[in-house]
Amino acid sequence: MDKFIIRGSKKLNGIIPIGGAKNASLALMPATLLASGKYELLNTPNLRDVTTMIKLLSSMGVSFEQKDSTLHVNTFRVNKFEAPYEHVKKMRASIYVLGPLIARYGNAKVSLPGGCAWGPRPVNLHIEALKKLGASIEVERGYINAKAKRLKGAKINFDISSVGATGNTLMAAVLAKGSSKIENAAIEPEITNLVEMLISMGAKINGIGTTILEVEGVDELHPISISTIPDRIEAGTMLIAGAMCGGKITITNCEPKHITSVLLKLKEAGAKIKISGSSVTISAPKIIKSVDVTTEVYPGFPTDMQAQWISLMSVAKGISKITDTVYYDRFSHVPELQRLGANISLSENIATVKGSNKLAGAKVMSTDLRASAALILAGLAAKGETEVLRVYHLDRGYESIEKKLQAAGANITRASAEEF
Ligand code: EPU
Repeated sequence: MDKFIIRGSKKLNGIIPIGGAKNASLALMPATLLASGKYELLNTPNLRDVTTMIKLLSSMGVSFEQKDSTLHVNTFRVNKFEAPYEHVKKMRASIYVLGPLIARYGNAKVSLPGGCAWGPRPVNLHIEALKKLGASIEVERGYINAKAKRLKGAKINFDISSVGATGNTLMAAVLAKGSSKIENAAIEPEITNLVEMLISMGAKINGIGTTILEVEGVDELHPISISTIPDRIEAGTMLIAGAMCGGKITITNCEPKHITSVLLKLKEAGAKIKISGSSVTISAPKIIKSVDVTTEVYPGFPTDMQAQWISLMSVAKGISKITDTVYYDRFSHVPELQRLGANISLSENIATVKGSNKLAGAKVMSTDLRASAALILAGLAAKGETEVLRVYHLDRGYESIEKKLQAAGANITRASAEEF
């Protein structure tokens, strides 16, 4: 198991390139099940979750070749329609194979994802929507067993906006017979990237980028080449590193309009922001101001940036409140940040943070992906040495984070950790 050793309080200055979006790749890759042939997925990040998706799809007969950031996918030999527990338990996004398998092969057996580090994350919306499209679904012995001769178009109105349920339903509806209408669809950029991919494969979808998607099912789709959008959460995380550590950082290869909510909050906190094409430069404020944040679905402030914002507020002047309305229990980073000296109290889904300049290095443990990012940020700002253990969580969603931060002057190294 690897750990990071960080010697904090170093100013960061430099250029950090942003990679492809994890949560877009995890939708685009299973979408290749919808048509036989060879695909090119450009700007695919090299991450543990992408490797897990490669292993899962390979177990179904898909073959892959990765050249730099282009993932070549071949779906000629798909012959198994099952996502076993051993893969799904590692990554909930495995559920994304359900929609394409049932739509194209009429048959899918997908393990239920189970709980996650921050509480229950149900998949009821995915199942209900696929049932509306005519799939017969039984859940038994931990597996979703789905069957359908051919799915039929239907109207689906989600009670809650769900990224995954929107993606799965869309991938099913594009090959259904007749028209479907998906209301209260998620409009996260990763879903829009998926819609773009499906349209270029020959799907008929109206309403791209809006909460109402109208789909006219087609008999067949074809393989394509598509670019994965930049990772807005990696972008936001690096900008917070810039704000917390003094100095000036430019992130490149990003899509500034996807991080508007984060940029506005960083400005409120006193950072200077300059946007130029696909680059954003942040100049750290002398004093970071306290800024409240409430997470919302896109274009609101993302839940995937909540932990990192708490780290930033731990070194701000004053008191801030951070509320997560998407995941009520997503606060496993709080006790670990407290080990670094952060003054945070938690009541239900609201963290109250009293900022100070007293963060001091300690040994802390990653508990999930974004919690790990928050700990690294706090370690970069803290005085002395911080060890972040169990960084395999971080490797799920950030490619070579230590190299990118080193290039901007951070003192962070990866080492192997012995844990008992
Ligand atoms: N929900 C239900 N029933 C469902 C599905 C979702 O009640 O069937 C609820 C969830 O419990 C949650 C809300 O709906 O309260 C939104 O969840 P959503 O379905 O949108 O989340 P997801 O698709 O499982 C994706 C990202 C997450 C990100 C969320 C929210 C991927 C692979 N994952 O998850 O990313 O937090 O959207 O934006 O796209 C991360 O990258 O660290 C991460 C967790």
